Amino acid sequence: MNLSVQLAPGHEKGLRLANPVMTASGTFGYGTEYSHLFDIQKLGAIVCKGTTLKPRDGNPQPRLVETPSGLLNSIGLQNIGVKALIREKAPIWAKWRVPVIVNIAGETVEEYATLAKELDNVPGISGLEVNISCPNIGAGGAEFGLHPEPAARVTATVRANTHLPVLVKLTPNTGEITRVAAAVAEAGADAICLVNTVRGMAIDIYTRQTLLGNGTGGLSGPAIKPIALAMVYEVAGSVELPVIGCGGITSGSDAVEFIMAGASAIQVGSASFVNPRAPLDVLEGIEQFMAREGVKDISELVGAARR
Ligand SMILES: Cc1cc2nc3c(=O)[nH]c(=O)nc-3n(C[C@H](O)[C@H](O)[C@H](O)COP(=O)(O)O)c2cc1C
Repeated sequence: MNLSVQLAPGHEKGLRLANPVMTASGTFGYGTEYSHLFDIQKLGAIVCKGTTLKPRDGNPQPRLVETPSGLLNSIGLQNIGVKALIREKAPIWAKWRVPVIVNIAGETVEEYATLAKELDNVPGISGLEVNISCPNIGAGGAEFGLHPEPAARVTATVRANTHLPVLVKLTPNTGEITRVAAAVAEAGADAICLVNTVRGMAIDIYTRQTLLGNGTGGLSGPAIKPIALAMVYEVAGSVELPVIGCGGITSGSDAVEFIMAGASAIQVGSASFVNPRAPLDVLEGIEQFMAREGVKDISELVGAARR
């Protein structure tokens, strides 16, 4: 059975994964937090927590609220900053078989450029995932992903400042997802990842306050799966690039749905909070499905629901 996928076919080095299962940024730390729980080297790739130029403390507490079939978060990109990541995490990743992709976020286009430059040629880093879709930071973030022009500007800037494969992660909080995807593809992205969280909020009716310290946040988990699936289907039908599906995946069959919608790879996010082994369970579920259905190569399933 062949599960390997190429996520950057147009890139000189390419980005080949042994299988299509990746972890979603912000839900799997730096990978190190999970490495004692299961063999994370079996995964297709690990995407680390969103990284900014300077370390960030994130937003006021509370930052996580459970909702029916979902999770609202407003972490606000709490992270150790790019310098500490290069110093402390990359040397560990350099010894791993599983490729690690660094998710980056900036408040200005210049910050994205600096992040891309700093992370270029660092051993242990196999690609960049550009977050133009974080709803939880005051400046920048989501704004860049809402419209084609700023999304293209960030993508072209990162592309010009790195030799690494560039994945661009889109927000579902736009009314023009296919136009944003086309702009990002045109600007030099190697692959497109979607979706980030869906903007949402919750209110405690007894304290009469919003439950998240920041007021609003981003919804993830099974509640957003149908939204993400439809967006993957739409975007995969409109761009030539590989698409990475993300949003509410908790099982192998969820993953197969995304692959049949047109995703070449998938990411497991909030499911890891419920079951730390979820990414491996999803991989095993895909393998079992392929064995049962007599599928020899995962590429036979990519976009199967589109034909
Ligand atoms: C607690 C938390 C933190 C997240 N942090 C990031 C982040 O730093 N960068 C990013 O691009 N996405 C971040 N995300 C979004 C996830 O990577 C993913 O796109 C989203 O949660 C949808 O997938 P899921 O439904 O499987 O969780 C975060 C999500 C959660 C729940």
